[in-house]
Amino acid sequence: MTNLGRSRRIQSVTEAVGRTPLVRLRVVTSKAPSVEVYAKLEFANPGGSVKDRAALRMMTTALDDGRLTSKKILIDSTSGNTGVAYSLFGAALGVRVRLVMPSNVTRARKDIARAFGTELIFSDPMEGSDGAIRKVREVVAADPDSYFYPDQYSNPDNPLAHYYGTGAEILDAVGDKVTHFVAGLGTTGTMMGTTRRLKEHTRPIRCIAVEPSEALHGLEGLKHLESSLVPPIYDPHVPDEIARVTTEDGWDMADRCAREEGLHIGHSSGANVFAAVRLAEKLHREGHGGCVVVIVCDRGDRYFAPMKWERRYVW
Ligand SMILES: Cc1ncc(COP(=O)(O)O)c(C=O)c1O
Repeated sequence: MTNLGRSRRIQSVTEAVGRTPLVRLRVVTSKAPSVEVYAKLEFANPGGSVKDRAALRMMTTALDDGRLTSKKILIDSTSGNTGVAYSLFGAALGVRVRLVMPSNVTRARKDIARAFGTELIFSDPMEGSDGAIRKVREVVAADPDSYFYPDQYSNPDNPLAHYYGTGAEILDAVGDKVTHFVAGLGTTGTMMGTTRRLKEHTRPIRCIAVEPSEALHGLEGLKHLESSLVPPIYDPHVPDEIARVTTEDGWDMADRCAREEGLHIGHSSGANVFAAVRLAEKLHREGHGGCVVVIVCDRGDRYFAPMKWERRYVW
């Protein structure tokens, strides 16, 4: 039978953001049969990642209150996905976009942003995403009137996009049963906003933040907070728990999800799913059962050559 439930007519690509599906993981969770694990597929957003939500809200709010106009250039630092989202919505909303990124991000990332007409500025690859943040601040300070700098690390609309979107959607889909939520920490917007919404639910939901185990890691999109600039939107009291995941475990779980679940996911998503499966197995062993929702941030094809095949972490 054909299911036409997702078919709808929309006026702009911006309306395609959100309402992402939750898919049950059945094989990688086989050692935890009493626990349901659902992956929220954020790659189903039009820009291919969870960052569409934050980028769109930061842009539309600024357009509404006049901080962003057609005469200004939107500028920000990005590890990639937010840049794709700014670029896509910039094109759709008639906003010029300029991005600062470490020069070693994949060729594909640069090409996707440029395809939408975005201009790129490169920062020192050895300084990672913190170097890109410092560089964008310098560029804006030199000519503040020309730019709108959303600064995803301190912009409240980043977590609010997840409060009103991701969190509300999870409750709509599995509010009757969800017991745990797992998401990684990058800007921390997903974790902060979604958790705040889930904590308003009548039943307690335990929220677990995923962080790389090592300062030098290959889980692009995630931050090792101890050794990084801590984002101003981060409140350490929001997550109930921090789960640390190694690069190898994140990459291996991403591979397993492709082969065993038909989900070709990125490495930060692999780390999130690894933490969710480890949690599900613990709940099962302890006889609790449960329902875990885990964020799948983007698709694995965004991490093709050279990193994927070399298995080397050039940060
Ligand atoms: C691939 C990927 N995973 C995870 C994250 C983390 O999401 P957030 O910035 O909401 O913490 C990001 C954000 O940049 C990302 O690009």
